Amino acid sequence: MKDIKVLFASSEVSPFAKVGGLADVVGALPVELNKDDIDARVILPLYRKIKIKYQDELQFLGWKMVHMGWRSLYAGLFQIEKNGTIFYFVDNEYYFNFDQLYVEYVFDIERYCFFQRAVLDFMGDFMNFEPNVLHCNDWQTGMMPMLLDAHFKKHGYHTNVQTVFTIHNLKYQGVHSIDVVREMLDLPDEYLRDEFCIKDRAINFMKAGIVYSNSVTTVSPTYAYEIMTDYYGEGLNYTLQRYAFKVSGILNGINDLEYNPETDEKIPMKYNIKTYKKGKAACKKSLQEQLSLEVNPGAPLCVMISRLVDQKGLDLLLYVLDEMLYDGMQIVILGTGDPYYERALADTAARNPGKMCACIDFDSGLAHTMYAAADIFLMPSLFEPCGLSQLVSMAYGTVPVVRETGGLKDTVIPYNEFTGEGNGFSFANINAHEFLFVTKYACDLYRNHKDVWDKIVKAGMKGDYSWKKSAGEYAGLYSLITGIPLPEKKETPKPVEAPLSAEGDAEVKKEAPAKKAPAKKPAAKKPTAKKPTAKKAASKKAAAPAKTEKAEDKKD
Ligand code: GLC
Repeated sequence: MKDIKVLFASSEVSPFAKVGGLADVVGALPVELNKDDIDARVILPLYRKIKIKYQDELQFLGWKMVHMGWRSLYAGLFQIEKNGTIFYFVDNEYYFNFDQLYVEYVFDIERYCFFQRAVLDFMGDFMNFEPNVLHCNDWQTGMMPMLLDAHFKKHGYHTNVQTVFTIHNLKYQGVHSIDVVREMLDLPDEYLRDEFCIKDRAINFMKAGIVYSNSVTTVSPTYAYEIMTDYYGEGLNYTLQRYAFKVSGILNGINDLEYNPETDEKIPMKYNIKTYKKGKAACKKSLQEQLSLEVNPGAPLCVMISRLVDQKGLDLLLYVLDEMLYDGMQIVILGTGDPYYERALADTAARNPGKMCACIDFDSGLAHTMYAAADIFLMPSLFEPCGLSQLVSMAYGTVPVVRETGGLKDTVIPYNEFTGEGNGFSFANINAHEFLFVTKYACDLYRNHKDVWDKIVKAGMKGDYSWKKSAGEYAGLYSLITGIPLPEKKETPKPVEAPLSAEGDAEVKKEAPAKKAPAKKPAAKKPTAKKPTAKKAASKKAAAPAKTEKAEDKKD
């Protein structure tokens, strides 16, 4: 029997419903946790496409009437078991019977209000599963810790459930008028305050998640630090600073069953670190033919696979695209998004036949071939909470050129010509020519210094991007907030040598990191049973959000 039981709630979960990286994370992390000492399950809305595709596997568990203000609405609960993990689905055709996941902003607010209430109503009922951790993800589930408090804990229900709120992207916050949301969620007046869920005279789901959860995580240590600053804080930096004691950053992994060039059925030729030159050359030729690019093995093939939105640094790319093409780079872009970027990229591609291709599409097969075929992966993001594409590209021997932000900074080590270290290239400022020059430098090494290039490619391919390490950090965090110890691991730990200072005070040196930047604080710690104080501290602080935030909040 596993003691720690976690229910993940999310609006997207791979392979059932995906728009972005959120789906990949909530699709893979619980599966990895289940391999170990955690019973992790997932709940998401039953969107129309899931109903059609998985109709034979969906098992009906029960139904309830869920309150939304003056209305009582049907909610059905279904389940599917996949990859050793149980996935629950909330059914209501009025809200979820759409082809797309997100429909229209105001309606989405209502749809996810319903979803959050239904999940809490089903928790422990029909599921035959009472979690001790509710793990919420992004604004669509941000109100749940507060609702848990207002409608359940206050009345003696689910009192042992601790909450984790993971921020995958702070930019999207779920903001709507107080009157409308209060009515749908039956929120008592005492919760409608600036120090809790109100920001700029509206209800902010993201803020409520930060204030009311026992622990807040984000998807890389650097992003955890960045979001406390004015530039990256999206107006919530002061709230995050106020709660810095419970904020930490845990890097995402990638699904190594899906993304492995040695076993990938979607690419023209499989390869590994020893055979990558032959394998990648075959994939490159195949992609050049498929997209009617000039079949030229020596041209640096630079690709980008992304949602086409400003966050991804497309303005920088557009500014120097002509210069890149002039320099002899071949460019392939895959993705959909903002019509402005779709059109601008398609226009440049039309002017440069044989050199550039803009695939305004969502095509997983093509994406895999691009990861395998390319020489360079471009990711000039303005901000990037974690980013998964740079990890996939490194696993496929494609060298990333990234801006030094968020998870990109944490995972891409820029090539250092003096030490020979590095698995990619990076630039610091939001400056198109800085991006261009670094990319040109990479191309020069690719063309003229094959031995150096080989080293960089291999450094990327050797990296461990699996979920194993991160899952261990999440497990440590669950243990910290619930006070439930994790079973001892059998492997013999390597002795840690404490560095001696000039005075030889090894003890002091060893203790120091625990008090360092809050962003890296609790995640990696695995507390023992003798330290339940951590739990009490965490839950107490979170359950009683500070009353002194008003002044600070004005700055948000
Ligand atoms: C969001 C972020 C991305 C992150 C992903 C998964 O899509 O923009 O950086 O990798 O969530 O956490």
